[in-house]
Amino acid sequence: MFARRCSRLVASKTAVPLTSYLSRVGRPYSSAASAYENILTETPKPGVGLITLNRPKALNALSSPVFKEINDALSKYEEDKDIGAIIITGSEKAFAAGADIKEMAPLTFSSAFSNNFIAPWSHLANNVRKPVIAAVSGYALGGGCELALMCDIIYCTSKATFGQPEIKLGTIPGGGGSQRLTRAVGKSRAMELILTGKNFSGKEAGEWGVAAKVVDGGKEELLEEAIKTAETIASYSKVAVLAAKEVVNKSQELSLKEGVEYERRIFHALFGTRDQKIGMTAFAEKKKPEWSNE
Ligand code: CAA
Repeated sequence: MFARRCSRLVASKTAVPLTSYLSRVGRPYSSAASAYENILTETPKPGVGLITLNRPKALNALSSPVFKEINDALSKYEEDKDIGAIIITGSEKAFAAGADIKEMAPLTFSSAFSNNFIAPWSHLANNVRKPVIAAVSGYALGGGCELALMCDIIYCTSKATFGQPEIKLGTIPGGGGSQRLTRAVGKSRAMELILTGKNFSGKEAGEWGVAAKVVDGGKEELLEEAIKTAETIASYSKVAVLAAKEVVNKSQELSLKEGVEYERRIFHALFGTRDQKIGMTAFAEKKKPEWSNE
């Protein structure tokens, strides 16, 4: 199964993706050429899709072509029935140093508005129903911070550098930073960060609840943790996982009463799935559930 997945899924070029990690843990691994220019895609473990931003010369700056590739890879993982969780990561030095400033510099209001500039960035938050983990090492600035915040879970190294420095460029966050960072850290701290353009560390991200886990090591240790969590998520009923992500996300949009009612309805709906019967029967029989994902 794992070998089949690995041969179907892809790694390209070589930005030190998982090869060292995999050789350390002794996992079989094979790769095939990918059509992508700016990202690598791999399946480090069954059920886990990994997207590595790979534009080292620009510290993974998020140009339109980069996002097109990210969205394409996300859509492929979303369609792939064997994938249960996705990880997005960058390099040791940069998760992503922001939207591509050189692409943005010449834009006019008219071109940005007419082309709905960076609207495709919302694909991840709006259309990807499988859980996505951001594994952040190095810089996650501007759009890089926003990309991490769009993911469902953030893991980072203690030395990671987050920030919304757009104010220093005469602009403001445009990829959801003013909304998602504010929900993550509260209004006063978000105001301070966005109005001063001050960075914050991975350690602070953990203390403030932006990151779920802070790893005291480098990218390799970080990825190891992210993969473990993705594997755990991918081992559960895929239908229950989709439902769990959906209800947690509703908490960001609905009132508490509406959110609790929404959750209850989805909870009721899951009694119509095979996996609810499989999960509860397996518990009663003291067996490991074999999910049908239906
Ligand atoms: N866009 C385009 N190119 C970028 C970039 C970006 N966001 N960030 C870095 N690069 C490029 C640099 O121009 C440089 O390219 P050249 O070698 O061709 O000059 C290369 O990446 C390496 O960068 P540095 O030499 O600057 O590396 P450093 O280690 O000295 O500094 C850094 C690292 C502090 C991250 C610095 O690169 C930096 O400040 N980058 C910009 C960060 C930023 O302002 N991000 C917000 C962008 S705006 C935005 O994201 C809007 C939005 O909300 C959608």
